[in-house]
Amino acid sequence: MATPIGDERLPISRKSHQFTESVIREMTRLAMEYGAVNLAQGFPDFPAPTEVKEAAVAAIRGDINQYAITWGARDFRSAIADQFAETTGVAVDPEQQVTVCCGATEAMISSLLAVVNPGEEVVIFEPFYENYGPDAIICGAAPRFVRLKPPDWTFDPAELAAAFSERTRALILNSPHNPTGKVFSREELEAIAEIVRGTNAYVVTDEIYQYLVYDGCRHISMAALPSMAERTITINGLSKTYSVTGWRVGYVVAPPQTSRAIRKMHDFLTVGAAAPLQQAGVTALGLPRGYYRKLAADYLTRRDRMLAVLEGAGFGCYKPHGAYYIMTDISSFGFASDIEFAEYLIKSIGVAVVPGSSFYSDPALGCQQVRFAFCKTQATLDEAAKRLSKVKK
Ligand SMILES: Cc1ncc(COP(=O)(O)O)c(C=O)c1O
Repeated sequence: MATPIGDERLPISRKSHQFTESVIREMTRLAMEYGAVNLAQGFPDFPAPTEVKEAAVAAIRGDINQYAITWGARDFRSAIADQFAETTGVAVDPEQQVTVCCGATEAMISSLLAVVNPGEEVVIFEPFYENYGPDAIICGAAPRFVRLKPPDWTFDPAELAAAFSERTRALILNSPHNPTGKVFSREELEAIAEIVRGTNAYVVTDEIYQYLVYDGCRHISMAALPSMAERTITINGLSKTYSVTGWRVGYVVAPPQTSRAIRKMHDFLTVGAAAPLQQAGVTALGLPRGYYRKLAADYLTRRDRMLAVLEGAGFGCYKPHGAYYIMTDISSFGFASDIEFAEYLIKSIGVAVVPGSSFYSDPALGCQQVRFAFCKTQATLDEAAKRLSKVKK
């Protein structure tokens, strides 16, 4: 191996010391090293819809290979606005309110940079998708955490209200929720809206799992609640709904003035998302309703299979009603920590998971939890089941 060039004494930024590398993506690297079945990172191991792939190929062959409009190709933004209106009942102007980004990941950081100043605060429910903490820090803001309490991952509205201060500029909401699979109910969303309406804060809502809901649950967008569209920034993307996490295409819907600020951040961070893949996005968003019904039905089958496997192996499961993860309680296995248990699973059992502590501000809260992703083929889940049957109780 070549010797890396660099001087260890040269400084790196203070912000980069304030968070670690992604634990989830580190687990994927370890899974590859140990030949483990990867139930850690949330990417499907089955093909994307043929029509969507063909549309991407056709776009490249048709020479849609140069920069798209910075805030997104016009017909893709129109398709996003149409889908948003259909699912929320809220009409939005694609010319002023839709911005296409490099994944929901970039949509989130561009949105936060657009509305949050250094020294301000961002309220985050925990456990949380691990990007949100670093996102707040990158903005120079302080995260304020509010607990979702198992087994139903409910929150105390008084605790949420107490997390707000004069400095709060945003609340990050994620429903359906990673890592718990919680789908926020209308009553819960109303309670959140009631608190936020009296503040100067936005709700930044990550709805990337919008179509993955089970057990008769309904996904409700915060923007659909009375008077909330004017202070809601809705983030979504192609990754999960169309099984194309590697394409890095996401989008954000926000009021016009907010969108102008988001577009500036987006432009100078990335210029734009891949042009041919935005064209394929038009095809994706145009898929018939049956596509979404089948997607959710197939995921429900996977969820039920995985719940049975995990319960059979001795895990305590928090049944998810949305998204494609199962958060589990590992206390019956007698390990000192989630990290030790995850290492044992990767090295001795051959299954990679995400240690629960990576979803909490205080690692102690997640030290007896691990998260399984079930966005995998039956063959992968079968192999995982075989291996997990060897876990020592
Ligand atoms: C809640 C949540 N938001 C965003 C993302 C990333 O989305 P994208 O691939 O569009 O950047 C993930 C991926 O796991 C996620 O779980």
